[in-house]
Amino acid sequence: MSTLSTENLSHSYSIGTPFEQQAIRRISLNIGQGEFVFLMGHTGSGKSTFVQHLNALLQPTEGRVLFNGEDINRDKSARRNVKKHVGLVFQYPEYQLFEETVAGDIAFGPKNIGVPASELPDRIREAAEFTGISEELFSRSPLELSGGQKRRIAIAGVIAMHPEILILDEPTAGLDPAGGRKIMENVCRYQEKTGASIVVVSHSMDEAAIYGRRLIVFNQGEVYMDGSPEEVFSRSDELSSFGLDVPQAAKLAEALRNRGLSVPKSVYTYEQLLRAVREVLGC
Ligand SMILES: Nc1ncnc2c1ncn2[C@@H]1O[C@H](COP(=O)(O)OP(=O)(O)O)[C@@H](O)[C@H]1O
Ligand SMILES: [Mg+2]
Repeated sequence: MSTLSTENLSHSYSIGTPFEQQAIRRISLNIGQGEFVFLMGHTGSGKSTFVQHLNALLQPTEGRVLFNGEDINRDKSARRNVKKHVGLVFQYPEYQLFEETVAGDIAFGPKNIGVPASELPDRIREAAEFTGISEELFSRSPLELSGGQKRRIAIAGVIAMHPEILILDEPTAGLDPAGGRKIMENVCRYQEKTGASIVVVSHSMDEAAIYGRRLIVFNQGEVYMDGSPEEVFSRSDELSSFGLDVPQAAKLAEALRNRGLSVPKSVYTYEQLLRAVREVLGC
């Protein structure tokens, strides 16, 4: 059982310079075993800054991050230890690819956390299979591949460490819908197989509606909403007011409400919409 929590976590960049800026403010959150969390918010709301604290890539300016109750920044060994359990796929996967070959890149993370060399081939094969990377690509340079493939390799490199908590920062940004769906399905499969906790940073409310079971909305460096998709999407006016979209089905439901149909505010998927409309029309 692994839990990750933050206590009054704040982070400022460029402290002591004229550019000093507080990116996140007093964030206290708890991510329990096996949760599937979507972290939403407009650009600049602090999502990437927040997730980079969860595996000690960034250190808090104030507050603490706890893994199973222990401060992950207590000392150097605690900072190293958390990287074995909490895997982070960066927003820009290019920054996560350093090796000459795809196989080398997937092996980089596990090697770094001390997985024995004899176990590496199995880890590489398994992670590649999870993310849909064919073995023919193993000897290619990751830098020659497409954006979608680079992202899959970055994800495979993190999955190969077998994290108990897998965090993906905008894993589907810039991909076509089919490519994005494949990545999300792989992430779901990883969770089903391992029971890991998943945190996905995303701009897409439709994605959150399909996959998320808990939605956390950031606004200006603070947690603005934290609840089930029903709870969050029923506040669609507030979401729109700070520039966030709502799922297509929620928009349609709103349009129907405006025309006098009593579709509940909790509707946010097409299935729910269909059920609600049938109920209203009695068919
Ligand atoms: N490396 C950095 N140096 C200085 N400011 C930064 C840096 N990274 C992010 N910021 C600032 O911190 C704020 C939050 O950014 P970020 O965490 O990237 O938000 P998001 O991921 O939600 O787009 C923004 O105002 C951004 O300009
Ligand atoms: Mg970001």
